[in-house]
Amino acid sequence: MARVLTGTQSSGKQHLGNILGAIKPAIELSKDPKNESFLFIADLHSLVSTKDGKLVAENTHATACAWLAMGLDTEKTVFYRQSDVTEVCELMWILNCFTPHPMLENAHSFKDKSANLADVNAGLFTYPVLMAADILLYEAEVVPVGKDQRQHLEMTRDIAGAFNHRFPDTFVMPEAKIQESVMTIPGIDGRKMSKSYQNYIDIFLPEKELRKKVMSIVTESRTLEEPKDPDTCNVFKLYALLADDEEISILRNLYLGGNFGYGTAKQMLFEKMLSVFSKERVLYSHFFESPELVELELKKGADKARRVALPVLKRVRACLGFH
Ligand code: ADP
Ligand code: TRP
Repeated sequence: MARVLTGTQSSGKQHLGNILGAIKPAIELSKDPKNESFLFIADLHSLVSTKDGKLVAENTHATACAWLAMGLDTEKTVFYRQSDVTEVCELMWILNCFTPHPMLENAHSFKDKSANLADVNAGLFTYPVLMAADILLYEAEVVPVGKDQRQHLEMTRDIAGAFNHRFPDTFVMPEAKIQESVMTIPGIDGRKMSKSYQNYIDIFLPEKELRKKVMSIVTESRTLEEPKDPDTCNVFKLYALLADDEEISILRNLYLGGNFGYGTAKQMLFEKMLSVFSKERVLYSHFFESPELVELELKKGADKARRVALPVLKRVRACLGFH
């Protein structure tokens, strides 16, 4: 039995990249009866970039709906909102005092983001320590994340190691499970699909808006007659993530044959999205329109999560002479 834990930030809507890169694989792992999964919404982390309370609440609700619509089973999984278990903030402070300042200064994500953001707050700097607290508070053994999170997991292990060196066997040492096989999903402008670039596709949008988004995918300028290269085309790349081999080969031949326009390819991609996610889109609307139901699930999840967190925090406090 392995305890698996992962979270996604609620700093915006969950998009196709988050869903295929993080949410779907984590839900698959949670279905293995050998695993015990803790899946959560990292809303405290989202405060680094979002200060509007109404927006924070909206994004958190939308994130919860995305996880639930993608098939998360709240009976078999501990599904909770990070900010509901405030013990994580206490543990974060303690871990802060075991974290060397230069380690945080050298974090790639801090260096990249602090160079590009107007609001470089201390939360951006200590982001990895809150993430370490998320992981260590629940004694996670396996943490599935995208490649971009690798360094954060290494830091978590270093912080746990520093604490355990002084107080042996306090924390469980987590292992990262990096999904090397999951490609970086491109956004509508061809860069990595990301909430920070505003280039993302929210697959739960109403049909008309979703179609508009798909139609705005950037393509090369070619005449209708000219043959087109599927391998450099964002529309084709996204289609290939959702279609089966036969459908992919049909579209490839249409590109290579000429007399086939990008508009038709985009329409095919749009229809594919509707059919692949038809069940999930209905479920999403159902949860989206039932905030009380979602709240109830999150509260139940927080109760289960706290039962695991409290003894760990108690043990840590005892090491440090707190009563
Ligand atoms: P964003 O870049 O939109 O802010 P996050 O940093 O919140 O996304 O990422 C949440 C999870 O989704 C991470 O585990 C990350 O690896 C995964 N992910 C995000 N964008 C993509 C993408 N374009 N392709 C594949 N996985 C992605
Ligand atoms: N930093 C992660 C991301 O941006 C989200 C996250 C917060 C997380 N705490 C975590 C992921 C703990 C795994 C474990 O995707």
